[in-house]
Amino acid sequence: MKRFLLILLVLIVIAAISGYFFVNNGYTHNYDEEYPVKEITISADSTMIAHGKYLALGPAHCQHCHSPYENIQAVERGEEVPMTGGFVFELPIGNLYTPNITSDVETGIGGYTDGQIYRMLRHNIRHDGQVCLELMPFFNMSEYDVESVIAYIRTLAPVRSERKEHEYNFLGKVVRTLVIKPSNSATAPLDYIKRDSTIAYGKYLSEAVANCYGCHTERDLKTGAFVGEPYAGGTVFGPDASTQNWKFVTPNITTDPETGVIAAWNEAQFINRMRGGRVHQTSPMPWGPFSRLEDMELKAIYRFLQTVKPVKRDNGQIVTPPTEAS
Ligand code: HEC
Ligand code: HEC
Repeated sequence: MKRFLLILLVLIVIAAISGYFFVNNGYTHNYDEEYPVKEITISADSTMIAHGKYLALGPAHCQHCHSPYENIQAVERGEEVPMTGGFVFELPIGNLYTPNITSDVETGIGGYTDGQIYRMLRHNIRHDGQVCLELMPFFNMSEYDVESVIAYIRTLAPVRSERKEHEYNFLGKVVRTLVIKPSNSATAPLDYIKRDSTIAYGKYLSEAVANCYGCHTERDLKTGAFVGEPYAGGTVFGPDASTQNWKFVTPNITTDPETGVIAAWNEAQFINRMRGGRVHQTSPMPWGPFSRLEDMELKAIYRFLQTVKPVKRDNGQIVTPPTEAS
């Protein structure tokens, strides 16, 4: 019996040690072979660059995430502050930092090829082959939109600002090894989609560009997996530095008459609210960028949300101030 226990103990120790090494090596798996960088050169005219700028500062809110927190108010006002990164996501898997995406060669993306940036937007794989937690769900953006955004960020003046490497904890390394995989669109992305007030365009904005879906659907923050009903809310933000210790829960934006926050709003009220900007200063929702959407686009989103399955789900207190939250 003693001998059996000893063997068992040795096996457990071996399993633990190999598990530890498996995770420590696996979390930096390089995806260059499975997802080779395409050799592409994006040629863009001034219309495309202007469109890319509109997306980056508006619906796709690249600037909102790729700015240090102290610049957030300027971003809200639509000022072209440099996208030097440094925004911190404090997650159960560790602290993740947004990088500098100005064209500085040493600290920004000046040295990356168009193909590397394209792969990042399509598959969430960085220039160095590392997979990222899916914080940038742009893999369903149209070709034209992706190329326009790349063309625009290429025009950003270089600003030196050192990239901070992520601090994954052991759980983060396990999750990266076993759960986080490159993103892929279910069907081939469209070449082009027209900006108009249709339901189809509203769905496109909500799911492929503005990420209403990603924030307003409950996610498991340890793995990024979606665990709630679409648009029924429930994802928690903070309390952390970026929310200045406030806690936020995303509300239910389905049309459920009892629990859906927009259920009683007509189209004009919805547009007014989206235009109105933030009520809560440290809310994670990029209100400023969204306030720059055109009426037709806000109409499209409203019309699309009317078609989403109503879900009864009360997310409790949506906004909690610091003293109660901590
Ligand atoms: C919700 C926040 C968020 C938004 C919105 C966002 N990003 Fe990012 N971005 C990140 C994070 C976090 C990283 C770091 C990823 C990593 O290293 O794991 C990143 C990394 C990048 C990188 C560097 C990839 C590399 O090779 O190292 C580029 C380029 C980039 N983003 C471009 C964009 C563009 C263009 C947009 C808008 C279309 C955008 N981002 C919108 C959070 C965001
Ligand atoms: C980064 C996460 C995030 C994204 C992206 C996001 N939201 Fe939100 N949203 C929130 C949070 C958190 C709140 C609650 C705090 C607040 O009202 O600012 C909220 C609140 C709302 C509200 C309720 C406002 C009110 O006055 O009660 C509406 C409506 C809404 N979001 C719609 C949208 C739409 C439409 C989109 C996409 C265009 C979107 N959200 C994208 C996080 C997000």
